Amino acid sequence: MILGIGTDLCNIDRIEATLARFGDRFRNRVFTPREQAKAEGRRDVAGTYAKRWAAKEACSKALGTGLRMGISWKDMAVSNLRSGQPVMHVTGWAAERLKSMTPAGHAAIIHVTLTDDHPWAQAFVVIEALPLPVLTLPVPVPT
Ligand SMILES: CC(C)(COP(=O)(O)OP(=O)(O)OC[C@H]1O[C@@H](n2cnc3c(N)ncnc32)[C@H](O)[C@@H]1OP(=O)(O)O)[C@@H](O)C(=O)NCCC(=O)NCCS
Repeated sequence: MILGIGTDLCNIDRIEATLARFGDRFRNRVFTPREQAKAEGRRDVAGTYAKRWAAKEACSKALGTGLRMGISWKDMAVSNLRSGQPVMHVTGWAAERLKSMTPAGHAAIIHVTLTDDHPWAQAFVVIEALPLPVLTLPVPVPT
């Protein structure tokens, strides 16, 4: 079953201006070291950050919280599989929220997809709950 969906559109030029103005204060407040390493190693630094910003906003919407004051942006972090496919990891308050919205007997999966076409970066997030396999205990064989 679907537990939540979220989307966000982020202006890459706005991220570029924020990077120029606030530098590491912005980077370190919003992005994990892994996200920063990915973005700083790219030709399109601002576009890579903008996709990850959009992913965090979209994830907060799918979690049903939005980005309230005091929450940590770094508790929603994007990494990439070898294929390039993005993956969302949640920790801290976001992991707690995910746990509280997941029905008993289910595991939650966060799906994320990103795209950019200057000046826009876009993310969609879908949170799905899958039923956990029912444990089948070995039946004792009468002797
Ligand atoms: C996946 C692909 C269609 C992306 O298209 P694009 O026009 O370059 O880029 P878009 O702006 O639309 O999307 C980029 C985002 O797609 C996502 N993406 C990349 N590869 C993906 C994949 N295999 N599956 C799902 N999403 C993928 C990433 O999130 C990427 O942004 P990020 O690298 O900053 O995380 C394109 O890269 C492709 O066809 N790749 C073929 C597979 C390949 O070359 N793999 C190389 C590693 S083995």
